Amino acid sequence: MNKSDSILSQPIKIGNLTATNRFVINAMECGDSNEKGEFTPSVVNRYKKLFEGNAGIVFFESVTLQLESKARKNQLLLNPYDPENIENWRAFVKDLKEVNPNVLLIVQINHGGEKSSDVFSRKFCPKPVFGIGGEMVSEEYIDKMIDSFVDASKVLYDIGVDGVDLKYGHGYMICNILRPYNDRDWKYGGSWENRSRVPFEITERVRKEIPDKNFLVGSKITMWERFPGGFGTAGPDTPVLDLTEPLDLIKGLEERGSDFFMESCVPSIPGRNYPEFVYDHFTMSKIMKEAVKPETVIIGGTYSILNNGNNSLGYLPPEQKSLFYWANKNIQDNYADMIAIGRQSLADALLPQKFLTGREEEINWCIGCNICEKLLHSQNKVGCVTYYKEYMDIYKQSQKK
Ligand SMILES: Cc1cc2nc3c(=O)[nH]c(=O)nc-3n(C[C@H](O)[C@H](O)[C@H](O)COP(=O)(O)O)c2cc1C
Ligand code: SF4
Repeated sequence: MNKSDSILSQPIKIGNLTATNRFVINAMECGDSNEKGEFTPSVVNRYKKLFEGNAGIVFFESVTLQLESKARKNQLLLNPYDPENIENWRAFVKDLKEVNPNVLLIVQINHGGEKSSDVFSRKFCPKPVFGIGGEMVSEEYIDKMIDSFVDASKVLYDIGVDGVDLKYGHGYMICNILRPYNDRDWKYGGSWENRSRVPFEITERVRKEIPDKNFLVGSKITMWERFPGGFGTAGPDTPVLDLTEPLDLIKGLEERGSDFFMESCVPSIPGRNYPEFVYDHFTMSKIMKEAVKPETVIIGGTYSILNNGNNSLGYLPPEQKSLFYWANKNIQDNYADMIAIGRQSLADALLPQKFLTGREEEINWCIGCNICEKLLHSQNKVGCVTYYKEYMDIYKQSQKK
């Protein structure tokens, strides 16, 4: 595919800002902070490389707002009440903007919820799920969490970040609250009005307290969790898809000032055994696009498994199996405005730049082995084992334990 005839090379307006092309780097935790959640050289170098890569937007990985509820042992911390932590963030953002001022930076903030740990943090949840568990939180706890999301967003705005991804998906706290499974009788459970209260309040407050459309507000949403009572199901005891609540969520968030949504659904990291799961993601992205105003940007997720077409998608000639083919087609068909790469950005942080400068043959393609995901879940430092020996060594070492 030639870059000059590709919509992927074209700019797009998002809020009052412009992304210079349609590539987005998806949020990718790499477990390379330290136990205090500080920046390390590894974190800084990773993002500098991504900024060199010249994607329209880089999403900064999932950041915890308090160590107590972190989901990873070495997760990055943004503490909106700690001046030293804020100054470190300010310096980091300044460094990145010096590398490439054209890339928009959006930071994903979260509360770990049931994704937190019993070992290195505390696992909190609205209602324990079988096999995961956790301490049930009080209404006061959630009220404070809402404040921390708003205060952290204000810090991000103040230090020159372009936007915030208020994480409402992927099994983190707000996703736990949104589920029909959260049928507990409390301010934040039971009826949809109660379950949607937290994200609606956070987005509304963030937009009102930062009334500058040069600061982007949006969320990554898991449209369907694919288990009984998960988000996007028809009730607390059925896995059957029902998008009434996910669609009401994104419309309600849009009304309250969201500029963008990043698509996700389960399986959120499909492997190479069944690449056809990408079609679920294309479908969700199309449904989201149809539900929102034309100016609200929908970022299609989960393109990595497509790579250069070296995948087992059936019924297609080789030239119609690749990431570039489907990214281009889905944007042309108005099923997405931009497309995100997660694993592929670990395999090659420079993909957008290589595409934009006609050097596609130099791209290191992700093969979908999902060992990076295994490293993440085993609390190791994460990277691509296919192209970086350092990470293969870490993986082999972890297998010996
Ligand atoms: C190692 C690893 C780390 C991830 N970290 C995050 C994260 O911090 N936040 C998030 O929303 N999703 C995270 N994800 C999910 C990705 O952002 C993305 O949704 C998923 O990998 C599918 O996209 P892909 O096919 O382009 O890889 C992570 C996935 C992996 C494999
Ligand atoms: S480790 Fe495997 S899945 Fe992860 S980025 Fe590398 S090739 Fe892709």
